[in-house]
Amino acid sequence: MVDQRKILVTSALPYANGPLHMGHLVEYIQTDIWSRFQKLRGHTCTYVCADDAHGTAISLHAEKQGMTPEESVALINKERIRDFGDFHITFDNYHSTHSEENRELSQAIYKALRDKGHIATRSITQAFDPEKQMFLADRYIKGTCPKCGAEDQYGDNCEVCSATYSPTDLKNPRSAISGATPVEKESEHYFFKLTDFEEFLRDWTRSGTIREETANKLAEWLDTGLQDWDISRDAPYFGFEIPDAPGKYFYVWLDAPIGYMAAFKNLCDRRDDLNFDEYWKADSDCEVHHFIGKDIVNFHCLFWPAMLTGANYRTPTSVSVHGYLTVNGEKMSKSRGTFITARTYLDHLDPEYLRYYYAAKLSSRVDDLDLNTEDFIQRVNSDLVGKVVNIGSRCAGFIKKRFDSKLSSNNMIPELTATFQAAGDTIAEYYENREFGKAMREIMALADKANAWIDEVKPWVVAKEEGKDQELHDICSAGINLFRLLMVYLKPVLPAMAEKAEAFLKVEPLTWADNQSLLTNHEVNKFKPLMTRVEADKVAAMIEASKQVLEAMKQQQPAEESWLTKEPIADEITFDDFAKVDLRIAKIANAEHVEGAAKLLRLTLDIGGGQTRNVFAGIKSAYAPEALIGKHTVMVANLKPRKMKFGMSEGMVLAAGPGGEDLWILEPHDGAEPGMRVM
Ligand code: 2FM
Ligand code: ZN
Repeated sequence: MVDQRKILVTSALPYANGPLHMGHLVEYIQTDIWSRFQKLRGHTCTYVCADDAHGTAISLHAEKQGMTPEESVALINKERIRDFGDFHITFDNYHSTHSEENRELSQAIYKALRDKGHIATRSITQAFDPEKQMFLADRYIKGTCPKCGAEDQYGDNCEVCSATYSPTDLKNPRSAISGATPVEKESEHYFFKLTDFEEFLRDWTRSGTIREETANKLAEWLDTGLQDWDISRDAPYFGFEIPDAPGKYFYVWLDAPIGYMAAFKNLCDRRDDLNFDEYWKADSDCEVHHFIGKDIVNFHCLFWPAMLTGANYRTPTSVSVHGYLTVNGEKMSKSRGTFITARTYLDHLDPEYLRYYYAAKLSSRVDDLDLNTEDFIQRVNSDLVGKVVNIGSRCAGFIKKRFDSKLSSNNMIPELTATFQAAGDTIAEYYENREFGKAMREIMALADKANAWIDEVKPWVVAKEEGKDQELHDICSAGINLFRLLMVYLKPVLPAMAEKAEAFLKVEPLTWADNQSLLTNHEVNKFKPLMTRVEADKVAAMIEASKQVLEAMKQQQPAEESWLTKEPIADEITFDDFAKVDLRIAKIANAEHVEGAAKLLRLTLDIGGGQTRNVFAGIKSAYAPEALIGKHTVMVANLKPRKMKFGMSEGMVLAAGPGGEDLWILEPHDGAEPGMRVM
């Protein structure tokens, strides 16, 4: 028995304003596997999470649904508890940041920081929506880029020319919430003096808590100089009021990580065997492990440890950072049907396919993870159905039919069995170090060995031979024992399949230590198929359904983009003004990526008569270059060439749509030829 550890594990708290999707699941599946592994090893491991319920995004979402934030959060909470459960993600507690425990802890931590002089106040000027009577964060302001003139750009950077600026530089700025023109307004804000913790953070980030690659990234921030962190927001704001500061609320990211503590506290209050202070006091021997995505490293590895240490709590034992999910090599896409919600997946496929696939692709590194649908089908079928389940099904039938469902008392392959048992230490080390891909490869290599041995001894041939009953009995019993050892190792990843295997084996729930024993003289149950093959048409149906689910969601979500329709029509122009615009049919002769440009494609437009134009178009989010080549579109042919960061742009192609991947170049009817005038 390994020394018993006391471990608290968390996943990032999901915002309560939308459905869980395949991207979220990478982290919850990763954490759940790690937590199940720890429990299987006999440690006291507690896995908590909660809804991240505060902030403007949540209250706007609720408003769109015609609900109070509390009602909306409660509704989403119900959905996600069901989604998590159906993916076998088993929290010891799933709480909410909008809870009494969190209010008390947030206020206490804030007061401790304030009393030690780590809070400062100063007045700042910000954009204010006069219609909604609220301050606007940068992402709620849209307008025309001050550099290139592109319209509908968000508050602090231009998607077309990649310029960065302050929202006050935007031309024709509008509130993305109401469409009103923002005004500037001053208000007093509260700041957490992160700079007080610079030395502490330099040590902490190099103390083995986070991987070196992440520590290097943080060192860049530390070297450029830390900034004090603005932790207050003005009313109206859905959150907790700051003590002694009426009308001022904690910024959602202040109380979100405290939500980890609150979820644990809420559990401790119901459980005699868990003590909050034992886990969170400054000199605690217990462990606290956070699993997060790479976009929120600064919150967890700078602000959070600084807040904890400043308020005299312990800091995390580790922060594990994973990359983003891509589907078939690209960002999840609504139009391609690869923005798949947890529920749509569950409507079509077995959750354990995904748990295994993610496990097989996860490492301790920050790399992005690609869900390739072909590879997904192939890998699950080949590994789980073709290798693991196959071992059981090849041996179980004979045990039932010929040996009264009883395993033999003899182990005919002590060496192979010992190899399987010894591999447990390596596999455990991989799990411990979050190298799940390596663990899966090790387990599948064992499964290959088992199958190769069965191929060699051929029970189906032995079964037909006279006087070889004992041999057949020993072969099949050994095969089932190897299958059992594989199920011990796979149990953190495949809990439902392990449960079915336990029912077949007629054993108590397997633990890791069970890898040291074998089943002899033991009765088993009838073998039922533990997993069926992934069918390609079900995957295709899931992708098709995802397109429809997203279409339906879009229709239920008018408000955020509806200001576009309220956008005032531009100032009147005369016919002569209009006649100056020379619109031409252009054939897209070539389209290619532009190095270093996040949003732009370089188009070579054929406008007839042997003339071509080089145009940079901000449509990369909607089109792959190869999808454009050969298409006809409409361009402004006489626009004065503009020098952009990546070269000269000699015109503009016409496109419509709210942006992102919902952007369509205008495609004229057949018969339109390059160079034709558009009238
Ligand atoms: O990025 C997010 O989705 C946040 N809701 C994560 C919060 S994690 C923790 F700090 F609460
Ligand atoms: Zn621009």
